[in-house]
Amino acid sequence: MPANIFVTRDIPREGIDLLIRNGFRVDVSPHDRGLSKAELLEGVADRDGVLCQFTDTVDRDVLEAASRALVFSNYAVGYNNIDVACATRLGILVTNTPGVLTDATADLAWALLFAAARRIAEGDRFTRAGNFRAWGPMFFLGRDITGKTLGVVGAGRIGTAVAMRSAGFRMRVLYADGFVNPVLENEHKAVRVELDELLNESDFVSLHVPLLPETRHLFGAREFGLMKKTAVLINTSRGPVVKEKALVDALKAGTIAAAGLDVYENEPALEPGLAALDNVVIVPHIGSATMETRVKMAVMAAGNLAAALRGERPPDLVNADLWSLSSRRMHG
Ligand code: GLV
Repeated sequence: MPANIFVTRDIPREGIDLLIRNGFRVDVSPHDRGLSKAELLEGVADRDGVLCQFTDTVDRDVLEAASRALVFSNYAVGYNNIDVACATRLGILVTNTPGVLTDATADLAWALLFAAARRIAEGDRFTRAGNFRAWGPMFFLGRDITGKTLGVVGAGRIGTAVAMRSAGFRMRVLYADGFVNPVLENEHKAVRVELDELLNESDFVSLHVPLLPETRHLFGAREFGLMKKTAVLINTSRGPVVKEKALVDALKAGTIAAAGLDVYENEPALEPGLAALDNVVIVPHIGSATMETRVKMAVMAAGNLAAALRGERPPDLVNADLWSLSSRRMHG
């Protein structure tokens, strides 16, 4: 019997084709939307592998319902949607898609930075509404980017790529991370500082930490209070890293100048009051949303799943400790 795979939401064809070429039976959810918990529980039952989205909450119930599954392949680099500890206990491999979406996400962080600094979305709304009557010396003033200080919170792959893009703007780069990043320090003269110092000094603060218990609400009223009144916050990481209500309050009160957001605390819902603010640019979680990147993610997620089902170590294994456990279950 061929291994039996459930794909919780359709992905670019290249990924599905790879699974079919491996001889697997592939069922793609017929719904072009996120699944309800009941649909997910039903979908994963009796499958050898599942290709899931970060919008699927893969908790203990789902993992236990997937009693045959050897692998859950997440179509995302972030895997905070999966209870990895529980998967490890149950002998289920978890994989993600690191690397292939780094540049697309870093580009989006910069798009938000430009848009917030130069009031692009607000200017677009203004112009479309027919309000542009005349140029003026004090009209629609934004903020300079060149020569300013960029603070990168979390200097992993995406944080590093964001920092590297600042070279063309002669920016000073500060970063806050538990680890020294030699590439940033040697090639970009970036300086590692404590978070509070970064907040005090930066004109642009860009978030690139994974969502973990210790990064949930890393940014709240205290942190906004430490930032410059002229500062701009960019978040392309995960919404709950920021207390969104405190952000709305800070943007309203002028505690910070502006924000550019791709992610939200209770996605897809927005904190009341956020959408009414002109000093925030908001886009619908599109960090990796380019044609090229999504194809690469599809091939990578499918490749991880196929490797696991062939009994090989998947290249992007999250719970690597499981691989070394001789007690790992094999199915089929
Ligand atoms: C998207 O947010 C991802 O983690 O890939």
